[in-house]
Amino acid sequence: MKNIVAIVDPFSSGKLIASRLHEQGFGTIAIISNSDTLATFGDSFVGSDFSKIYYFDGNINFLSDEMSFLGVKKIIPGAESGVTLADTLSNIFSPEISNAYNCTHARRDKMEMVDALQSHSLRAIKSIKTDNLKIVEQWLSENPNISRLVVKPLESAGTDSVGIFKIDEDWRNHAKNILGTKDKLGHVNYALLFQEYIQGVEYVVDSFSWHGKHYIKNVCRYKKIRNGAHEAVYSSLEFLDKSIPQYKILREYIYNVLDALGISYGAAHSEVIIDDKGPVLVETGARLHGGGHPIYAEMCTGQSQLTDLIHAYTEDEAQFGDYDYMKHVNIIFIVAESAGVLNENFFMQKLEFLKNAKEIKLLKNPGDCVHETSDLYSILGFVVLSGDDLSSIVADEAKIRMWEKNIVAITK
Ligand SMILES: Nc1ncnc2c1ncn2[C@@H]1O[C@H](COP(=O)(O)OP(=O)(O)OP(=O)(O)O)[C@@H](O)[C@H]1O
Ligand SMILES: [Mg+2]
Repeated sequence: MKNIVAIVDPFSSGKLIASRLHEQGFGTIAIISNSDTLATFGDSFVGSDFSKIYYFDGNINFLSDEMSFLGVKKIIPGAESGVTLADTLSNIFSPEISNAYNCTHARRDKMEMVDALQSHSLRAIKSIKTDNLKIVEQWLSENPNISRLVVKPLESAGTDSVGIFKIDEDWRNHAKNILGTKDKLGHVNYALLFQEYIQGVEYVVDSFSWHGKHYIKNVCRYKKIRNGAHEAVYSSLEFLDKSIPQYKILREYIYNVLDALGISYGAAHSEVIIDDKGPVLVETGARLHGGGHPIYAEMCTGQSQLTDLIHAYTEDEAQFGDYDYMKHVNIIFIVAESAGVLNENFFMQKLEFLKNAKEIKLLKNPGDCVHETSDLYSILGFVVLSGDDLSSIVADEAKIRMWEKNIVAITK
């Protein structure tokens, strides 16, 4: 019988897994963890990739029986929303290649993540989880060094409802507005995470782990900007060579983070800020880096978390290693500075003249009404620049930034 692998929430970069497994002669089924995730990520769902699609309704016994019947043994999370269910199923069907189940929540709940780091004596961001703003005020008075406060959901993704405030700004209102609402992945924000703001440079470290050994598959530097009232809006992502001094610092810290979070198997996507005290984790997702990132990693390094994942799940004696930097790759996110109507119907043609553009993805069309970009869900698109000449890539980015300024006609 054909080997069948289950992918939980095969969205975002998770949509790339099925076709690669098919190339190796494996079959795939999809499990959708909840209907809200389908609303958020549904555009990237390719139903025809799967011989069966299950919509999980909380009945784990039914799902387990179905998987036993189909002979499914291997389960992979496709996107952040699928991490916990994939963990649960994987620990039932293949505990020998699963992440430690006793700390499954530390891989999703950002407060438990902080606690796990602290209990392993690793630096973590000063944080408190509560639904009571008086407790936050008390905590701030006990921590007078905190001058800026981050307010965010415990388990969301895509910068959904992340607010960054000076202490005297109206963080209370932001917290009140999101408490009790559902985040983009369908969880109710019954409490929020309040964190010290870390001022530094933010990096991505994408890894792959197997039998407890970790491999670094790429390191990138994020540029995030303030867009009007919105903080941490994606601006660009630049792949980095291993020769940078931060590489070793990040690698050592992330190895320890992965151990603290019980990650021994599979892909992980970690966001780390380095400030004058060193590296500190923003969060780790125990899944592939989203947004099709493995494809861009392959442009840069010839391999990715995804290539390792496929080797690991289809071969008995797969070999893994750290990445080698081969080509410059910069991803430029296109941001709407204001709400309005997209007026630049020749923007696409202009972008096509860029020397180093390898992929141009516009998520909106001319004439569309757009919101001011506030998070990953409201960017207008992105351009992947890649080539051997870094100065020419930098020049292309400058052109995109100039065109971007005129892309939206402001509505009064
Ligand atoms: N404590 C903090 N200090 C400084 N910046 C922060 C902090 N928390 C969050 N940020 C900024 O906000 C971004 C989004 O936060 P976080 O990753 O926790 O949310 P998310 O919804 O998972 O977003 P994404 O999916 O885009 O990573 C971070 O990548 C970082 O740029
Ligand atoms: Mg994040």
